[in-house]
Amino acid sequence: MTAPADTLELIRYGQDEFPAIRPTLVSLYAEVYTDQLANPFFSVERFEQRLEGYASRPGWEAIVAYDGGEAAGYAFASTLPEGSAWWAGMLEPLPQEEAAEDGRRTLALFELMVRRPWRGTGLARRVHEELLAGRPEERVTLLVELSHPKVKALYESWGYHNVGDQQPFADAPIYATMMRPLKAV
Ligand SMILES: CC(C)(COP(=O)(O)OP(=O)(O)OC[C@H]1O[C@@H](n2cnc3c(N)ncnc32)[C@H](O)[C@@H]1OP(=O)(O)O)[C@@H](O)C(=O)NCCC(=O)NCCS
Repeated sequence: MTAPADTLELIRYGQDEFPAIRPTLVSLYAEVYTDQLANPFFSVERFEQRLEGYASRPGWEAIVAYDGGEAAGYAFASTLPEGSAWWAGMLEPLPQEEAAEDGRRTLALFELMVRRPWRGTGLARRVHEELLAGRPEERVTLLVELSHPKVKALYESWGYHNVGDQQPFADAPIYATMMRPLKAV
């Protein structure tokens, strides 16, 4: 299935627009993660707390895809700050030179999701590439649940590789930490 390109619109939002798009981000999360909402870590309330934190970070941007005006999916990311805790949850610590953040080096992609009717259409990849386009960082990192090997394989097909597993919060699942050069593939 191929999404009709002419009805799709990808819009970039910055921190100033966060209050306006926040309800869309939360509502799509609640729909996409509906089967996991009973798990406290994946509850809407906890997602909203994480979202507030991410959206307050320097360089936060989101891409929201609209199909005929209806939100179909999104991704958001921000630059890892100097001394970021992103690498603190690694089960095997990375070499210092890999984990050193200077506030410019690494883009962290915190969420990427597409509603079911738009899965398998290439929209997720378009949203991902649009978010990365024009970013100044050298590399991009994201987390994928170890229990979702197909999603991990999808990211590998987009040029990511696993640099080690991590548990970012005490009640979070174990995630594979994926990385790729920002401009490559
Ligand atoms: C991840 C995502 C954006 C990829 O979209 P896509 O490029 O259109 O790819 P698909 O949806 O076809 O997913 C690729 C494969 O992963 C599987 N998959 C996707 N999300 C999954 C999930 N949350 N749990 C388990 N498997 C999942 C799909 O079933 C598919 O497998 P198949 O090829 O056997 O059908 C989309 O699947 C999604 O929004 N998933 C739910 C949210 C999510 O898991 N986000 C990623 C967080 S790292």
